Amino acid sequence: MVTQSIAGPAIGVRGLEKSYGKLEVLRGVDFDVARGSIFALLGSNGAGKTTTVRILATLLKADAGTATVHGFDVATQPANVRESISLTGQFAAVDEILSGRENLVLVARLRHLEDPGAIADDLLRRFSLTDAGARKVSTYSGGMRRRLDIAMSLIGNPSVIFLDEPTTGLDPEARIEVWDAVKDLADQGTTVLLTTQYLDEAEQLADRIAILHQGRIIVNGRLAELKQLFPPAKVEYVEKQPTLEEIFLAVIGGGDTSDATGTPSGGRR
Ligand SMILES: Nc1ncnc2c1ncn2[C@@H]1O[C@H](COP(=O)(O)OP(=O)(O)OP(=O)(O)O)[C@@H](O)[C@H]1O
Ligand SMILES: [Mg+2]
Repeated sequence: MVTQSIAGPAIGVRGLEKSYGKLEVLRGVDFDVARGSIFALLGSNGAGKTTTVRILATLLKADAGTATVHGFDVATQPANVRESISLTGQFAAVDEILSGRENLVLVARLRHLEDPGAIADDLLRRFSLTDAGARKVSTYSGGMRRRLDIAMSLIGNPSVIFLDEPTTGLDPEARIEVWDAVKDLADQGTTVLLTTQYLDEAEQLADRIAILHQGRIIVNGRLAELKQLFPPAKVEYVEKQPTLEEIFLAVIGGGDTSDATGTPSGGRR
């Protein structure tokens, strides 16, 4: 693995363009991702999120523009880029027949790392999979698979990790499990670029959020900045059911509807 200390952002993208035949998917995409941060690339189906990630991961060549990852140019230094990154695709890439632990050991062996067993056990612990480690992956829930998938992508300590829709198709509980795992990664200094279609996911995880739409980044900012771009949330007045206490007080006391703390109830702001 490459352990050089470099200045500048973990990911820098300038004027990226990509077409498939006549379909112009990326028409000049620009963004930076600060090192150790979580960056969410948001966009609807077909916006070009996976295309962007595949270019950054050197799996696909851009038609125009430049991109650097960990200081390396994806077009001219792809081998260096690949040593610095890991990619967890949109669909889990774990082997069903093997156990969780065996999957991890296999990847550590493929990467020629010392003591694959210890690496596997450490990752199982970090992703709360120790108890399930010996079980076949075919018996895992969706959230467990996703966590194992992310754990596998961490073998070799990549500086930058790409997570393409890490929680699509997961139930709310499993999504939270994955979110916790992603937050842990960033806490340990890994740069995370994730794509998602879920606003709440970006809201939960990301230091910065960019929206990819019609081939360009149309918005890029911190959550608070993004919220200022939109009109304030609609305030709704909901008829509140009285509590038993309020009914009791009304029945026994007549007009006084103050609560026990002495503040007027039914506060209208
Ligand atoms: N290899 C390909 N050949 C032709 N068209 C492609 C190819 N890969 C992607 N596309 C098209 O490019 C567009 C962008 O696809 P991409 O997979 O990048 O979108 P996405 O934002 O990841 O969408 P999703 O949210 O559905 O994953 C889509 O219209 C898709 O059909
Ligand atoms: Mg995609």
